[in-house]
Amino acid sequence: MPSYTVTVATGSQWFAGTDDYIYLSLVGSAGCSEKHLLDKPFYNDFERGAVDSYDVTVDEELGDIQLVKIEKRKYWLHDDWYLKYITLKTPCGDYIEFPCYRWITGEGEIVLRDGRAKLACDDQIHILKQHRRKELETRQKQYRWMEWNPGFPLSIDAKYHKDLPRDIQFDSEKGVDFVLNYSKAMENLFINRFMHMFQSSWSDFADFEKIFVKISNTISERVMKHWQEDLMFGYQFLNGCNPVMIQRCTKLPEKFPVTTEMVECSLERNLTLEQEIEQGNIFIVDFELLDGIDANKTDPCTLQFLAAPICLLYKNLANKIVPIAIQLNQVPGDENPIFLPSDAKYDWLLAKIWVRSSDFHVHQTITHLLRTHLVSEVFGIAMYRQLPAVHPIFKLLVAHVRFTIAINTKAREQLICEYGLFDKANATGGGGHVQMVQRAMQDLTYTSLCFPEAIKARGMDSTEDIPYYFYRDDGLLVWEAINTFTAEVVGIYYKSDQVVAEDQELQDFVKDVYVYGMRGKKTSGFPKSIKTREKLSEYLTVVIFTASAQHAAVNFGQYDWCSWIPNAPPTMRAPPPTTKGVVTIEQIVDTLPDRGRSCWHLGAVWALSQFQDNELFLGMYPEEHFIEKPVKEAMARFRKNLAAIVSVIAERNKNKKLPYYYLSPDRIPNSVAI
Ligand SMILES: [Fe+2]
Repeated sequence: MPSYTVTVATGSQWFAGTDDYIYLSLVGSAGCSEKHLLDKPFYNDFERGAVDSYDVTVDEELGDIQLVKIEKRKYWLHDDWYLKYITLKTPCGDYIEFPCYRWITGEGEIVLRDGRAKLACDDQIHILKQHRRKELETRQKQYRWMEWNPGFPLSIDAKYHKDLPRDIQFDSEKGVDFVLNYSKAMENLFINRFMHMFQSSWSDFADFEKIFVKISNTISERVMKHWQEDLMFGYQFLNGCNPVMIQRCTKLPEKFPVTTEMVECSLERNLTLEQEIEQGNIFIVDFELLDGIDANKTDPCTLQFLAAPICLLYKNLANKIVPIAIQLNQVPGDENPIFLPSDAKYDWLLAKIWVRSSDFHVHQTITHLLRTHLVSEVFGIAMYRQLPAVHPIFKLLVAHVRFTIAINTKAREQLICEYGLFDKANATGGGGHVQMVQRAMQDLTYTSLCFPEAIKARGMDSTEDIPYYFYRDDGLLVWEAINTFTAEVVGIYYKSDQVVAEDQELQDFVKDVYVYGMRGKKTSGFPKSIKTREKLSEYLTVVIFTASAQHAAVNFGQYDWCSWIPNAPPTMRAPPPTTKGVVTIEQIVDTLPDRGRSCWHLGAVWALSQFQDNELFLGMYPEEHFIEKPVKEAMARFRKNLAAIVSVIAERNKNKKLPYYYLSPDRIPNSVAI
């Protein structure tokens, strides 16, 4: 009688093992086996991290094995099980791998196909076609779209993390509890001693240092020492944690009537402002999005304020970017003066602080939340709904959406919801952040997620004209590496453009993103379908780059750039000044966040800047969804390219007082998970 050796690998994360009964049946081209209990006498099967082998003898020849069915039945209490993979040694000595990497919960069962990636057109056998279809039917019942707020990209239909399908939950919910993590952070930073003085102002800038002492971090300390300098202010628009706002100014907007006379003492080339603009030396940052957004009113004892500044910057003779004019609101007028470096010290300082605070709001809500977290979730939900596990694009993307739906669900549960943590210290809390996302949906275009095009659209692409833009330089390298990799994977599975165009599952995935993620907005420029291999690899590059590099660039610098409160105030407790010459240091300190809000903010940016334990960085694919050699070779080349980028960046950063490392691939996690 034919005999198979079945090897079963259990996950090594917490609670991955099971004591339940596990049954296996084999489905072959010539017949199906009986159900076999996998059980070794006097042995504890399927322990966490175990790789167990069993001999399974069948009554008759089964032919080519097409499916492996695993069933879990209760032993005592239901005991969830994480199955990594199964391998089968056939009677003729062949090995077949069946990747799984899924949880089996309750009285569950799972039917696996071997690890070769297949498009729907590759499957001619009825049973395999049916398996694909059923898998998607089940997934579409589990992964449903939901509108969390009008106009938002749709998100997952689950109120709480615990309601999510087990496969996309965090291993331990404790690890992502924001309330717990922020509180822990404040405890670790020894700052909860300030909480009883919640609404009191700090006495001066030096007083802010009190919540700073226990941490030694090169960049944040440097920010603390140099935050008042124009050079440091300008540098952050290029290489801080929100490096996406600055644009080359080709024409001064009418709403911002800066004249040559005003900025003359900042200009170093003996040219007029118009001539400087023509020569490409003037840059602009406009926070128009914040105009009219409601400030946080959740604490009746503390008034909070927002502004919508416009800032003009200049590339000086040393090729450094410095601010030369700031207007704090959008409509020009007597009560909305244009602040200049030549103004009184504290006038200019407070104007810069308003810009930093506005930058913090746009960073947190748009650059970070909307344009990485929510966008990645859309790709994740569409992937689970439309691509079966055997599809090569599922195998490629699954590592890049890991824990994304979970972290966003948790954020909606505790952080950005009504009465959530976000309201505690942020001027855009209490609903302002929702209005901001709704507005920013207008600009959420497909091309704005294509990194090289986004840089070009802001006129920031010339390395010669604009040196020291490390975000751009490193981002382009990483984009290129990802694009080369996705093009190789696409080339392996799609032999022609026609195969792309005819892959209905892929087209449904792309359409789901467009219809539900982008709300069917034509102006988003998101494709409704994809016709060529080139377009497909670009699309996949957008998905992977957004989830990995872009998120890393805007997430992991939060502590570095935002922990020194005056450099990134999460709220302002007095309105923007309307005249010049009246600002005092006391007024600035009374405007900046109070002690309690400072502590919440510091706990938040610290917690959000941490990597996870056992973080998986770009190019690491420990889950072997792909088993074929050409893809594994492409992955190896991808990792080699990434390693070369790590060296280039390390070399560039050598001896730099302000190294830029957020886009070094060894610091870019594969997915949005924090
Ligand atoms: Fe994040």
